[in-house]
Amino acid sequence: MLTSASRIAFRQTSRIMNSSALQHEPKRILVTGGAGFIGSNFLLHMVPKYPGVQFVNLDLLTYAGNLLNLQRLEGSGNYHFVEGDIADGDLVRSLFEEHDFTTVVHFAAESHVDRSISDPLAFVRTNMVGTATLLETARHAWKNSQDVRFHHISTDEVFGSLGSEGVFTEETPYDPKSPYAASKAGSDHLVRAYGHTYGLPYTLSNTSNNYGPFQHPEKLIPLVILRCLKEESIPMYGDGMNVRDWLHVHDHCSALECILKYGRDSQTYLVSAEQESTNLNLVQTLTDLIDDITGRPQGRSRELITFVEDRPGHDFRYAIDAQHLRNELGWKPQYDLPAGLLHTVRWYIEHPEWLEAIADESYQQYFEKQYLSSGP
Ligand SMILES: NC(=O)c1ccc[n+]([C@@H]2O[C@H](COP(=O)([O-])OP(=O)(O)OC[C@H]3O[C@@H](n4cnc5c(N)ncnc54)[C@H](O)[C@@H]3O)[C@@H](O)[C@H]2O)c1
Repeated sequence: MLTSASRIAFRQTSRIMNSSALQHEPKRILVTGGAGFIGSNFLLHMVPKYPGVQFVNLDLLTYAGNLLNLQRLEGSGNYHFVEGDIADGDLVRSLFEEHDFTTVVHFAAESHVDRSISDPLAFVRTNMVGTATLLETARHAWKNSQDVRFHHISTDEVFGSLGSEGVFTEETPYDPKSPYAASKAGSDHLVRAYGHTYGLPYTLSNTSNNYGPFQHPEKLIPLVILRCLKEESIPMYGDGMNVRDWLHVHDHCSALECILKYGRDSQTYLVSAEQESTNLNLVQTLTDLIDDITGRPQGRSRELITFVEDRPGHDFRYAIDAQHLRNELGWKPQYDLPAGLLHTVRWYIEHPEWLEAIADESYQQYFEKQYLSSGP
């Protein structure tokens, strides 16, 4: 139970953060997918900061889940891990009964576009059936509850692809292109439908590409760092001119903290640091940083970049206008792209044991199948 002293502490921290009125006061939070990249960064940020709030992390520990990320939380009295599937209705119901959650922060998903192209049904199952199972359980459990909230974490990929001009806003129509994006779009619609039909209190965020500590090296930035450090070829899809809008994961976590407390019911917030880069420019920046830090001759690591056949249906550009979040809730990011990339490269260089543990044999097989089967 939350003590009145810790409730006061929660409110005080809230006031420091911005001047908006508190909309929701989380007391017992179910975090799904908390062993993944963003979920583990969120727990590392929140658990020590809110000792009076209980956190239960429900994670299936797929290839993307890694308890090594959460070692710093071992021994925390307000944190509890449960291995299990969000699509397992009996398990989710028993957790609601046991912990009487006030809040769900829903990260769990199949999250890699390439994998969604080879195995789309796994994405439909976790991202849609899993989300529906959580929503259905929450609506029954919260029938007579006050001050409860379901926060759903989603992606800007639900909006499809931009040309060289324009940005996504909260008003942009949905136009998902990959099975991953379509399954996330389906989950967003389910969340809004539960809000509209059953009055389930919710907030939703769509976020641009994240980067930072603890990201699985199937994703671009850790993949480049890992392969560059080992002086192995770095695959670049197509001509490298696709544009992404990059957000440091610590900034994403502070935005989520802000939305959870100050976000208005039934609102959607787009989250981004508005830092666009072509993939080629991003990868060259990373290889140059690694040359600097490791003392290699400047430009040497760029020679590792190898152009490979483009991803089917590869979206050209994503870019988010985050003014709604900035203006309404007063959130702002701490990292621009150069500072965030420097922090990230240093983190991976300083944590070789984490990279070694994750880049195991199954990862190598995945890498070879994904990038080398069609020849570099
Ligand atoms: N990474 C990004 O750049 C990005 C950008 C925008 C939105 N998102 C969204 O943020 C969320 C988190 O992304 P991430 O990059 O941390 O993903 P991730 O792949 O690193 O982690 C996903 C986590 O979910 C767990 N999981 C998968 N299926 C599960 C199931 N059926 N039941 C319980 N747990 C399950 C995995 O074990 C893993 O720990 C996702 O919903 C994703 O769509 C990610």
